[in-house]
Amino acid sequence: MSTDISLAGKVAIVTGGGRGIGKSITRHFAEAGANVVIASRKLDVLEATANELADLPGKVYPVTCNVGKKDDLDRLVAETERQFGPADILVNNSVTNIGQGPSLDVTDEMFDKMVEVNVKSCLRLIRLTVPKMIERGTGGSIINVVSISGLQPQFQGLLYSFTKAGLIMMTRNWAQEFGPHGIRVNAIAPGLVQTDFSEFFWKNEGLMNKLEKLQPIRRIGQPDDIGYAALFLASDKSAYLTGQVMTIDGGAMIQPVL
Ligand SMILES: NC(=O)c1ccc[n+]([C@@H]2O[C@H](COP(=O)([O-])OP(=O)(O)OC[C@H]3O[C@@H](n4cnc5c(N)ncnc54)[C@H](OP(=O)(O)O)[C@@H]3O)[C@@H](O)[C@H]2O)c1
Repeated sequence: MSTDISLAGKVAIVTGGGRGIGKSITRHFAEAGANVVIASRKLDVLEATANELADLPGKVYPVTCNVGKKDDLDRLVAETERQFGPADILVNNSVTNIGQGPSLDVTDEMFDKMVEVNVKSCLRLIRLTVPKMIERGTGGSIINVVSISGLQPQFQGLLYSFTKAGLIMMTRNWAQEFGPHGIRVNAIAPGLVQTDFSEFFWKNEGLMNKLEKLQPIRRIGQPDDIGYAALFLASDKSAYLTGQVMTIDGGAMIQPVL
């Protein structure tokens, strides 16, 4: 058990929970006793993670789901309720990243797909879960995994930055609206974390050295740096914390301008 935080009796949905940051979040939740549904497109990856985590106090249940498809999201939530009951915790973590490069090359199709997967899926999952949290009156915790690129523009990453910035503002809107029902909504903005998603950066030794030198904490982030924070945000230990963006980036964002 990584901390004394308990999520016993809680039900969580973690999109993209099969690998990378989502897998660490899932492990922390299941260690703390939550039953967790992990959802993404690749069943083999989800099943491998569920098997690996099978001995933890909480159960991990895989559901295939393309978060860009409304029917898949409906099925994800229905499956969660059938398996464990209604969700208390929702982690919007899945991501796609297309359209990197000059912004003048961005097409309508790229724009629509990035919005569908990175932003609209979160709205849809909120619509499918929050009304039941309100009805039950037992509160809830929503965690949106965003990025430091949603706080500062990523070079030639117009769509990534804009979708993450959008999700940051949605986080704050939702926190205002759902707070009176005891439902907290926060975001985690990771810096560079070593996963498949960011291999372009960390597989390039020269680039890595340069990036690490810019950070007060001179190493790349690991998924567990984010997993611990998500566990805190999911639990009652953060009961007075809502509408915030927790930036976990080794201090990358506090570089001096002068
Ligand atoms: N790694 C970093 O440096 C970094 C930095 C800042 C922010 N983040 C954020 O952290 C979150 C997790 O990223 P990661 O680094 O852990 O990346 P990752 O290891 O590549 O994981 C991405 C996850 O998203 C899922 N996914 C992709 N498209 C999907 C779709 N259409 N429907 C459902 N699931 C989909 C993938 O599963 P399938 O392929 O099975 O669908 C995978 O589980 C993301 O929101 C990312 O923006 C990461």
